[in-house]
Amino acid sequence: RMKEQLLMKSNGSDAGVPLKQPFVIGVAGGTASGKTTVCKMIISQLHDQRVVLIHQDSFYHTLSEDKLQKVSKYNFDHPDAFNTELLLSCMHKLKRGEEVNIPNYDFKTHRSTESSRKVNPSDVIILEGILVLHDHRVRDLMNMKIFVDTDSDVRLARRIQRDTLERGRNIQNVLDQYARFVKPSFEEFILPSKKFADIIIPRGGDNDVAIDLIVQHICTKFGQHDLCKIYPNVFVIFSTFQI
Ligand code: ADP
Ligand code: C5P
Repeated sequence: RMKEQLLMKSNGSDAGVPLKQPFVIGVAGGTASGKTTVCKMIISQLHDQRVVLIHQDSFYHTLSEDKLQKVSKYNFDHPDAFNTELLLSCMHKLKRGEEVNIPNYDFKTHRSTESSRKVNPSDVIILEGILVLHDHRVRDLMNMKIFVDTDSDVRLARRIQRDTLERGRNIQNVLDQYARFVKPSFEEFILPSKKFADIIIPRGGDNDVAIDLIVQHICTKFGQHDLCKIYPNVFVIFSTFQI
């Protein structure tokens, strides 16, 4: 009953019609742009919906021994680095309300770990990753598409810090990989996918206003206007625009 209430649309002509499927949000953007931070901020404000966060990184192909030997020549920023078929199959299952097992990826060994993460069906599914807006089949699953737009120098600085502290790299590795693969692939695949976004968020997690507006929009979809404390009287119409 609770779920049924949560899945009621309340706006427009179809007021009162239960939403048949979860609300899917895609969050794309360059490396270290703040995608995960934005997702966590959205989740923390969505108190009354069941929300799940899926990382595209979980679907990296495990490198063969051969490729591992030459890992500095491997482009992790190319669409082919991901197992998109598996990603699509997991997302379709979640959309149908089935539970799924999502692989866990280890950035230090460049492999999926033995264990996987069991994910239950949810009202809101957030899919984040550098290339989630690249493939039209993945885009077609989404009800809302977001691009996190953060300056490249800020992203590189964050990436150096994160990869040396958390992902087992040294500064030289990070800079070499950035120049050889990360920057060119950003320009070839990630930046062009910005045009598919409904919402572009400058400055990522620093942009509280954008996060509040997004949460407000999701709440209107679930008929939870009263639970949105910010801008309670504003009905937000989203098209492709920059907040
Ligand atoms: P992405 O998911 O796009 O790779 P993250 O949200 O994981 O980005 O952020 C990458 C790194 O930058 C993390 O170490 C995070 O703590 C840091 N970071 C993210 N947003 C901010 C911010 N607004 N201010 C300072 N550091 C940030
Ligand atoms: O968290 P973020 O969006 O930055 O993760 C994507 C980045 O992870 C890519 O830019 C890719 O270069 C990097 N990556 C890596 N090593 C791996 C897998 C991904 O450096 N084994």
